[in-house]
Amino acid sequence: MQMLSVVRMFVLVGAALAAAPSAMAQIAPQRLALCAGCHGAEGNSTLKGIPSLAAQPKLFLENQLVLIREGVRDIASMKGMLDGVTDAEVTALAQYYADKSLAAVPTDRDAEVFARGGKLAEGMRCGICHLPTYLGREQIPRLAGQREDYLLHSMQQFKNNQAVGRDSNMAASVYGVSDQELQDISYYLARLTPTSPTRAP
Ligand code: HEC
Ligand code: HEC
Repeated sequence: MQMLSVVRMFVLVGAALAAAPSAMAQIAPQRLALCAGCHGAEGNSTLKGIPSLAAQPKLFLENQLVLIREGVRDIASMKGMLDGVTDAEVTALAQYYADKSLAAVPTDRDAEVFARGGKLAEGMRCGICHLPTYLGREQIPRLAGQREDYLLHSMQQFKNNQAVGRDSNMAASVYGVSDQELQDISYYLARLTPTSPTRAP
């Protein structure tokens, strides 16, 4: 899909969701249990390759849910899972996870690798979009405290142009970055909490 049509779609999606009466929206009773089976209780994932959803910006979650529902972002293990889920329920799901707190980040920390990852991320100016705190905003995801394996997996997908239906800004951001560097960046971001220093020492 071309960039422009993706952008147009975001605009349309935003307009449609803004009109949804979110206060009245309901999440189907069995839905959260299904999501929790992979994304963990209250959106804190304990499974390899599966992202935590807790404390992500609401708009990011809304957009991704619509893209996944429409089959634009192709996730094999979620195929068909959002069929028939209304925009109102998508908004309610996004709000639910955006309001959840992130579980504690891993406490093991190799100071050298952490500092290296922080310097790389700073040098590559990831914070311009993801914010210097890496908490994300609007359609841009929080990276701080995300699972390390998922951060690495998604960046490798962007780098290898396998991120079907995802924002092409990211492919440009990680173009030519070595796997070792992506590993260091993932190590750093996964161990960042909102109260951690946001810059490498
Ligand atoms: C069978 C496992 C499974 C189930 C059940 C599941 N997901 Fe997922 N989900 C995944 C995987 C795996 C990914 C990441 C795929 C990738 O990027 O390679 C994902 C990605 C996502 C993303 C994008 C997150 C990001 O940071 O990019 C959202 C949002 C999401 N899922 C929401 C949900 C919701 C809401 C439900 C319940 C309706 C759900 N998922 C059920 C496996 C699952
Ligand atoms: C021009 C803005 C921009 C810059 C610069 C940028 N990103 Fe992103 N990033 C995004 C957007 C937008 C998304 C959401 C992609 C989508 O919608 O599929 C994203 C997604 C991601 C994801 C996937 C997270 C998830 O939960 O699915 C990772 C990991 C990531 N970025 C890491 C980085 C790193 C590391 C850097 C610096 C090398 C960086 N980004 C620079 C805009 C940016």
